[in-house]
Amino acid sequence: MHIISMSDFASSERVMEVLRSSTSMIPWATQNTYTSQFPRHKAVLAFFEPSTRTHGSFEQAALNLGLRIQQIIGTDHTSLLKNESFADMFRMLAGQGARIFVIRAKPEGTPRYVAKILSHYIGEMSIINKGPFQVINAGDGRNQHPTQTFLDLLTIQETFGRLDDFTIGITNDLRHGRTAHSLAQALAMRSGVKVVLVSPKGLEMPPQFKRGLNVISESDSLDALSDCDIVYVTRFQDERYRDNLPLKQSVDAVIPEFVIDLARLNTWNPKIRIMHPLPRVKEIGADISTDPRVVAFQQAEYGIPTRMALLALGCRDTQWEFPPTGTNADLLVETIPTSLTGERKPPKHFQPVQRGMVLDHIPPGCAHHVLQILTQLSSLTGSHPRQLVQHVKSRKCGGSKDVVLLHDTELPNVACATLHALFPDMTFNYLPGNETIEKRRFRVPDVLSHGLRCSNPSCITQIEHEADPEFHFVGSDGCPKEAVCAYCEEHLWSASNF
Ligand code: NCD
Repeated sequence: MHIISMSDFASSERVMEVLRSSTSMIPWATQNTYTSQFPRHKAVLAFFEPSTRTHGSFEQAALNLGLRIQQIIGTDHTSLLKNESFADMFRMLAGQGARIFVIRAKPEGTPRYVAKILSHYIGEMSIINKGPFQVINAGDGRNQHPTQTFLDLLTIQETFGRLDDFTIGITNDLRHGRTAHSLAQALAMRSGVKVVLVSPKGLEMPPQFKRGLNVISESDSLDALSDCDIVYVTRFQDERYRDNLPLKQSVDAVIPEFVIDLARLNTWNPKIRIMHPLPRVKEIGADISTDPRVVAFQQAEYGIPTRMALLALGCRDTQWEFPPTGTNADLLVETIPTSLTGERKPPKHFQPVQRGMVLDHIPPGCAHHVLQILTQLSSLTGSHPRQLVQHVKSRKCGGSKDVVLLHDTELPNVACATLHALFPDMTFNYLPGNETIEKRRFRVPDVLSHGLRCSNPSCITQIEHEADPEFHFVGSDGCPKEAVCAYCEEHLWSASNF
């Protein structure tokens, strides 16, 4: 099973399976002994970004399991420096027999991309390696760090004896901190977990990581953390925002207010536990390095049993598979033809269109977003003469609506279905030019690919020419959905942007 993102774990039962397995590895990790239960598969540890803990614990975990290891540290000794692509590099490594790929890389979405590339190579083209194989995300840019989350959960479970019913504060760089993102998604699956978010202005947690989380307060003061059971501190990820000078200056000015030292800790809940994925800089004071309330170093030690459990998953021949990506077949659910002969005339705002489409019941003020989306989808839709009618009176849509008229055009189903996902009340009318109107109803597509690029400049799809962008729709049925990049998980379109 690939371990790429916490968002792949739809159920907490899957998470608990990994945790049970991690707990069972603790005796093996403490004895630092090999187990003979596993095949001696080859694991590539490819760390293109700096790492001490994650790399070291994967290495130790792999040794404890008796795996063979190939190390790639940095890009300096690889053909990436000769502009080789990640895709070719990992095809090569697979062809040399690796079955497990632990990857840390700056471009967001790299592990998912590699998993996809390998799925077409191993088994189909490789002579030596028929798989199965496993990709483990050891941190992709600002996006995710799921293996850290599993060890964070193991720490919480071992420290408190439970994973539900507590208040946790997550603090500091919540915008760029991938450990905070993955943890937030895992906590959203638990029950009775209240979350306090604290960060300087400009470093708040992006909305997609707060989905489903019971956030009871959000502020820019550490004082909000005083009653928490756990405070999860993160490092200011200055390497990810130092080029943004105004942000860097404003954060640097307040960093002294974000230090947890003995004086501050003594004013908080006496039973509090301070966690930190490490490395720390100054956010946890040196005067509490060995304070029993700070469990950051024990937390790091849980990295070994956790990563043993995750690697062991990859050594089993039967893998957990995530549900296959759906298809875009049958997007058109229903067509209702209406004849407009005799007394019946089309509604007034339809009348400028002789032949083409009327996109109706668009939320007021959103017509230009619809046009923007159609422009972004132009490789699917082509460009066409269009006209925007704003603020039409409507009994639906709270009294007013926008309308877009498309002359001499019939949009493909995938474009209509995409608009339907983002604006569920929107209606689609096709006028073939023979005194009839066809009302068309669509379902939300499973995936949107071809012709769209992710807007995140650090997304792997912006970096690798072979990468085919792909978007999924997330959100509840009947509500506006959001289109999310399948690789870097950035939200391309979301109702909150409209
Ligand atoms: C973190 C990381 O690399 O994301 N460290 C870790 O893996 N334990 C946190 C950080 O770099 O601040």
